[in-house]
Amino acid sequence: MSNTAEQVEEQEIDLTGANQVIDKYLDMHGALMPVLQEIQEVYGYVPEPCVHLVAERLNVYSSQIYGVLTFYAQFHLEPRGKYIVRVCMGTACHVKGAGRIGDTLKERLGIGHAETTEDLKFTAEYVACIGACGMAPVIMVGDNTYGSMTVNKMNEVIDKYVKMD
Ligand code: FES
Repeated sequence: MSNTAEQVEEQEIDLTGANQVIDKYLDMHGALMPVLQEIQEVYGYVPEPCVHLVAERLNVYSSQIYGVLTFYAQFHLEPRGKYIVRVCMGTACHVKGAGRIGDTLKERLGIGHAETTEDLKFTAEYVACIGACGMAPVIMVGDNTYGSMTVNKMNEVIDKYVKMD
């Protein structure tokens, strides 16, 4: 990222929420994890300017924070879509055509695993078994589970969410 782009991002992120989170934990030893978790709850991901803010206010190195953020899969460094579309790629779903379901998502919305649409409406995630093998192939959109997916059914589900705000 160029300096100019970094400066633009710094300007666009309102750090009020992050400062409020840090305020709560300022005197607490070992607060880095909860601080990062709560910042992610506020922004939906951990923006770069927040990393620098946390480093400065908690007196830790930015590199140490990035170490934590990249080690734990729960953290996201990029904005994510309003709707997270999880396509199960576990064995049962794979055998029953999960690949075609993933391809349909890619064809319709242009996103593959870990990618987000430009309008920040959808993020795709290919995941391991989500424990609903009896309904394979399975997807989830947010907390909603859809089973016995076909290409047609996938198109219907996508249509439904495209129309939603
Ligand atoms: S393999 Fe997809 S739900 Fe189990």
